[in-house]
Amino acid sequence: MTTILGIETSCDETSVAVVDDGRRVRCNLTATQFDLHAKYGGVVPEIASRAHLEQLDLLIEEALAQATIAPEQIDAIAVTQMPGLIGSLLIGVSAAKTLAWAWDRPLVGVNHIHAHATSAAIDLTGDPWPAVALVVSGGHTSLYHVRDYDAIELLGATIDDAAGEAFDKVVSILGLGFPGGPIVDRRAAGGRADAIRLPRTMLDEGSLDFSFSGLKTAVLYHVHGPGKVSGGLEKLSEQDVSDLCASFSAAVVDVLVEKTLRAVARTGVQTVVVGGGVAANSMLRRRLGERCAAEGLALHLTPMKYCTDNAAMIAAHGYYQFVRGKRDDLGLSARASVGV
Ligand code: KG4
Ligand code: ZN
Repeated sequence: MTTILGIETSCDETSVAVVDDGRRVRCNLTATQFDLHAKYGGVVPEIASRAHLEQLDLLIEEALAQATIAPEQIDAIAVTQMPGLIGSLLIGVSAAKTLAWAWDRPLVGVNHIHAHATSAAIDLTGDPWPAVALVVSGGHTSLYHVRDYDAIELLGATIDDAAGEAFDKVVSILGLGFPGGPIVDRRAAGGRADAIRLPRTMLDEGSLDFSFSGLKTAVLYHVHGPGKVSGGLEKLSEQDVSDLCASFSAAVVDVLVEKTLRAVARTGVQTVVVGGGVAANSMLRRRLGERCAAEGLALHLTPMKYCTDNAAMIAAHGYYQFVRGKRDDLGLSARASVGV
């Protein structure tokens, strides 16, 4: 058995997990910073890194206690190295390096987006690869061709806003609170998806990239009036707001589903996996389920508890890297972006 301690601090969730063999989650503890950022309508990087600093030591202690494990029984420490808010990443990476040194354990830096793809495999008995992985979160919208845990090829990504970011912006246009995804999801359930015509940006015919900024602007003008950036909200009834949430969700979901199916056609795989915060979206889960069933494709949706940021997926992905020989030294540095 190989036991990994996972640490995640890339954005606004401080999370620590202990996972055996990439699958048996002994504990997965997450301290959300929701209340700290809510009044600002978005994540404030400085506040996020301070909160990680306050929470992380306690969470590590608690995780070891809950998993009833001593440091010498941990085989490696996996930590989110990239991408994310640099100040937040630095807290996790520094903590992981300190533990690796103090406990004399190997260190493995993990790509957070790749870990979102692996999160779909945590509860499976076998590996889902080869597959197309759709990773949809607040910071990323990416399609990958995954041949194995360490053979992940990027097929396409957003050229502007991420899908989750678009959800968050729509909720702020509508003044409904933060974070956007779950609120729009709930309101969409009571709305009509065909009530308002909104654009589906497909880009060039063969493109697997995404663009959601035009859709966001269309929602903005629908609410405030063409060319305007304020006013008009008071004219919308509760039903109008629900209809807009449903129509917006459908526009995002249509593009995500269509591009995922394009990626399947391009790669010739028979399996789709979906991860990231937006993978919790009920309309996306339903429509992908319908399309994959119609096309005879296997679909593995990340379990709801592992959709938003969590350390179980970091420990799981770190495990597969570790058993394939990946090791980082204490020179490991956090990176805000993945780069090339
Ligand atoms: O994966 P995640 O926790 O953080 C990043 O790595 O970015 O994703 C957070 C994003 C937020 O934008 C949030 O609004 C979105 O996931 N989200 C959802 C839902 N739940 C969370 N979006 C749509 N529908 C949901 N049910
Ligand atoms: Zn994430």
